[in-house]
Amino acid sequence: MPRGAEKPELYRELAASVGALLEGEPDPTANLANAAALLGQFLEGINWCGFYLVRGGDLVLGPFQGKPACVRIAFGKGVCGTAAERAETLVVPDVHAFPGHIACDEASRSEIVVPIVVNGRLHGVLDVDAPTTGRFDEEDRKGLEAFVAAIVPRIDWRRA
Ligand code: SME
Repeated sequence: MPRGAEKPELYRELAASVGALLEGEPDPTANLANAAALLGQFLEGINWCGFYLVRGGDLVLGPFQGKPACVRIAFGKGVCGTAAERAETLVVPDVHAFPGHIACDEASRSEIVVPIVVNGRLHGVLDVDAPTTGRFDEEDRKGLEAFVAAIVPRIDWRRA
């Protein structure tokens, strides 16, 4: 996968790669770990990427790449909890301007959170942080939503 590829092309390749990487293995931990590793390897200008999974009324830290992060986030709290509660992607160009943002890594300046919804049920979120403001745009939103869509059918969510 070429570094510096145009975003739509990069995301098409990432969705295809994650599909191939996860094929034939339904284990949630293994697959989410490899999915996070793929994003960590190929997305430029980010400082954290990973998953939070629904555990009762909270989101709990799952596989990720980056510095150690907050373990538990209540629904409705921070960018992750807000995206989970609304079940919609949130693109936050400046995290300091987002009321209630949870600063796990002090370096983070912008963030995107994509909910993982399977058959109408929320199972978690994908969270990606960047150390610069305005890192994520509409192409990142579409691309990361497609990335999540490629992961969803390849995981046994009953075991997540
Ligand atoms: N900033 C997130 C918390 C998770 S970390 O960025 C890894 C939030 O406000 O929900």
